[in-house]
Amino acid sequence: MSTQNPSDNSHPSTGIGNKAHAGSVAPVHSQDELKALVGQEALKYVKTGDIIGVGTGSTVNYFIKALGANEALRKGLKGAVSSSEATTALLRELGIPVLEASLVDGLSIYIDGADEIDHDGYMIKGGGAALTREKIVASLAKSFICIADESKLVSTLGRFPLPVEIIPMAATQLMRRFEELGGSAKLRLKGEAPLVTDNGQHILDVSGLQIKEPKAFESLVSQWAGVVTVGVFAYQQATLCLLATKQGVKTLKFN
Ligand code: 5RP
Repeated sequence: MSTQNPSDNSHPSTGIGNKAHAGSVAPVHSQDELKALVGQEALKYVKTGDIIGVGTGSTVNYFIKALGANEALRKGLKGAVSSSEATTALLRELGIPVLEASLVDGLSIYIDGADEIDHDGYMIKGGGAALTREKIVASLAKSFICIADESKLVSTLGRFPLPVEIIPMAATQLMRRFEELGGSAKLRLKGEAPLVTDNGQHILDVSGLQIKEPKAFESLVSQWAGVVTVGVFAYQQATLCLLATKQGVKTLKFN
């Protein structure tokens, strides 16, 4: 039986929605301020002696900046496994050893942002084109700590165009397959030319999808010939999300 107050329109599992949440920090307003807030908050999950997994994107960049400012933690880290060339460069600037994913047995935590996260901790990722390495590093970790501002929380995944890393020769047939699912796929460009990922591949961005069953969808699309990685993170779902709201940081925990 639900114990929710009838005047509370928040989501039953995460408690986020129209309900106001009291936060312990001063109100912040811009999206960048919210990203900085969760970047800082994520430091609480990093321990001296850890090897951590580090994602990619503007929210993660705030986490890396916060880590850089905390000398004890930064110097105490054994190292990090990085999800992109961009993140590797930032970590190296701070003097943090960047370790090969294939030489690490496992990670306690992986910290990354998301383009969307739902109330079960399923995500869309890949807005920064780093989804393949992000999924690989996330799959090494016991816990995925998602850091996001409140604009990323959705009821159903699909408002953000779904990134899919593909082998270039499969582009046209994959676009047709997404159309059959009701989507519309576009090749991501950088300037006039197709964007090339860190892995030398291309990205399709698929709009118009409503991903109601993220695990089934991830399984289906992952089997299509020419797909390297689909940007639905259902099997590598978030363990928890530090969600920056205008009232402060909410911690959402998922099963
Ligand atoms: C990169 C990603 C990012 O986590 C996602 O795009 C969110 O980025 P930002 O923190 O800049 O909003 O998946 O591939």
